[in-house]
Amino acid sequence: MTHFLDINATETGDLKTIISEAHRIKAARAGRPRGALDDERPLDGHMVALIFEKPSTRTRVSFDVGVRQMGGQTMVLSGSEMQLGHGETVADTAKVLSRYVDMIMIRTFEEATLLEMAEYADVPVINGLTNRSHPCQIMADILTYEEHRGSIEGKKVVWAGDGNNVCASFLHAAGKFGFDLTFTGPEPLDPEMAFVDEARAKGVNVEIVRDPVKAVEGADLLVADTWVSMHDAPSARERRHNLLRPYQINDELMAHAKPDALFMHCLPAHREEEVTNAVMDGPQSVIFDEAENRLHAQKAVMRWCLGK
Ligand code: CP
Ligand code: NVA
Repeated sequence: MTHFLDINATETGDLKTIISEAHRIKAARAGRPRGALDDERPLDGHMVALIFEKPSTRTRVSFDVGVRQMGGQTMVLSGSEMQLGHGETVADTAKVLSRYVDMIMIRTFEEATLLEMAEYADVPVINGLTNRSHPCQIMADILTYEEHRGSIEGKKVVWAGDGNNVCASFLHAAGKFGFDLTFTGPEPLDPEMAFVDEARAKGVNVEIVRDPVKAVEGADLLVADTWVSMHDAPSARERRHNLLRPYQINDELMAHAKPDALFMHCLPAHREEEVTNAVMDGPQSVIFDEAENRLHAQKAVMRWCLGK
C-alpha cells in the first residue's frame, strides 16, 4: 500500500517525481474553468474520503476539487460527526472505510491516529496535517519555489517563529530536496531535535539562530506560520505571543535577506502578528501561489498513491 504519510517517510526519487508530475499537471490545466475536468481522469470511478478532525479551508477545498477534476468523487467527513469521534477505534474505522472508498485523506490531532489509520486501511492514506507534520503543504511550497526561482537545492530557507508541524515538514524536506534551513525563534519553541539531526545527517546545513536579523542574512526564502496552532491550548496564546513577537516577518527583517528572497506562509495568517500586511501583500510574497499549488501538488500525490 502506498501511503503519503510524511516527506521523510517517502523516497527522495518519489518526492521528485511527484513534484515534476505536479508541474506537468498544473501546466495541462492552464486557462481552464475551475469546474472543468482534466483531460486525464485517473480517478474515474474512484471515491475518496476526506476526514477532518480540525478546521480547514485550503486542504478541504483543494483535495475536493482535485479529486473531482481527476474524475473521482469525494466524501467530506467531520471527525466529530463520525463514530470515530465517539469511541469507535481508528483500526475499525480504517477497515470499514476500506470497504467503501479507494483512498483516505485525514487531518487529525495525534500522529498515532494517522499511523493507525494507515496500518489498518487497505487503501492509501494521505496525511492532511497532524500536530506533528503537514507534508502536503510543503510539497506545494517546493512546487511554488521552483516555479519562481528554479531548483531549491542549495538554497537557504529561514523559518521564523514556532518550530511547529509545518516547520517539521520543512525540516523533512530540507534533507530530501537538499536545501539549508535556518530556524529562528525562541528556545522553548524549538523544532524537534530529532528532525534537525535527521536533516543534518543527510548533509544539509540546519542552524538554530536566535537573532532573527542574523538568521535571515543570505536567505532565499523566508517562511512564517501562525504563533498558535490548532492543537495548541488557547490559554498558551499570551505566552506564545510574548515569546514570538521578536520573530515577526516585516519589511525591516525582509531587507536583511537577499533582495530577491521570497516570502511564504501556509495560511491561514494572522496579519500584523507573525507577518505584516506589507510583507503578505508585497512583491516578494507568493502566498496565494502556495495556496493554489496545494491543488496541483496533491493531485500528483494522489496519483502516486494510486499508481496512476
Ligand atoms: N494551509 C492549510 O493547510 O490550510 P487549511 O487549514 O485551511 O487547510
Ligand atoms: N501550524 C498550523 C498550520 C495550519 C495549516 C496549525 O497546525 O494550526
